[in-house]
Amino acid sequence: MKTRFLGNSGVRVSELCFGAMTFGGKGYWTGIGQVQQKEADELVDMAIDGGINFFDTADVYSEGLSEQILGKALGDKRKDIILATKVRGRTGKGPNDVGLSRKHIADSCNASLKRLGTDYIDLYQVHSFDPMTPLEETLRALDDLVRDGKVRYIGVSNFTGWQLMKALSISEKQNLEKFVTLQALYSLIARDLENELVPLCLDQKLGILPWSPLGGGFLTGKYRRGKTRPQGARRTDPTNQFLQFDEERGFDIVDELERIAGSHKATITQAALNYLLKKPGVTSVIIGAKTKDQLADNLKTTDWEMTAEEVARLDEMSKPPRAYPYWMLERTVQDR
Ligand SMILES: NC(=O)c1ccc[n+]([C@@H]2O[C@H](COP(=O)([O-])OP(=O)(O)OC[C@H]3O[C@@H](n4cnc5c(N)ncnc54)[C@H](OP(=O)(O)O)[C@@H]3O)[C@@H](O)[C@H]2O)c1
Repeated sequence: MKTRFLGNSGVRVSELCFGAMTFGGKGYWTGIGQVQQKEADELVDMAIDGGINFFDTADVYSEGLSEQILGKALGDKRKDIILATKVRGRTGKGPNDVGLSRKHIADSCNASLKRLGTDYIDLYQVHSFDPMTPLEETLRALDDLVRDGKVRYIGVSNFTGWQLMKALSISEKQNLEKFVTLQALYSLIARDLENELVPLCLDQKLGILPWSPLGGGFLTGKYRRGKTRPQGARRTDPTNQFLQFDEERGFDIVDELERIAGSHKATITQAALNYLLKKPGVTSVIIGAKTKDQLADNLKTTDWEMTAEEVARLDEMSKPPRAYPYWMLERTVQDR
């Protein structure tokens, strides 16, 4: 598997990143995955054997269990891995057990290090914006973690364009560590970030790490128009979904993915992931797999490449809604 630079940093990560959100199965995350230690050990070994050197988790996934299981599964192999986790979500009932305050960041980082069984985190990401904490406080707290050697790079997830640009300019002015990556929802059924965040990342040299690249399993071919939905899958019940999108439009995209996959002797899943690897700014696509069969399929994504014409066909049929002022600015650019 090829590697790419982690945004504007000197470290290289595999084109696919293994997401450990399916590890644990506690609280809200039960419906996402309940992978326990033995299966997790096997999945992690398989991912590493397949060329993956980049793993992502979060302190809130399965209330800390995901970090704990991932840390154990990595064991001695951890030294060759780029390990990413996140902070921001609620970790307890107290008033300071949430957000991006200096206190919550410092306490959460120590707790993550302990659960992961490591003394440093390669990429420490803020999980989303905290409107109650000044960005200066958050950025200085993150900078301190880098100075202390607990964290090597910092990243951001689920920010809007203005929030991210404001954070980058505060870091610049105050000589603080800058975010090197944006982890964002990005797939053939969710291309909204192409309006603002992709151009921002290209301009500011941040690497994009797409999350839910298969739309929570929708873009695998197991959900088809008019067919019975699979049992025991994340999207079995379409009425109770965190990820909302127009499934009718999605079915057309799956049909096209099937045509493309067919001409490469590949699978629909691989085609959906492959498309993202062709998108400007993308560093590493975060895959989620519950089973060895799923992981084996996903790992084969990098065995082949989609043609520019195939990417263009998918681009055309999955265009995000035209929002102002982007459509107007497109015309301005054409006029130059
Ligand atoms: N920053 C954030 O806010 C955020 C949010 C979400 C996720 N993430 C990160 O992104 C990672 C991936 O997210 P995700 O799990 O939502 O990704 P996804 O690729 O959209 O969905 C993964 C799910 O699709 C199904 N699947 C995967 N490969 C398959 C295959 N080959 N064939 C059939 N089904 C397959 C499995 O679920 P079923 O078997 O149940 O169908 C699997 O759990 C997470 O682990 C996490 O690290 C970050």
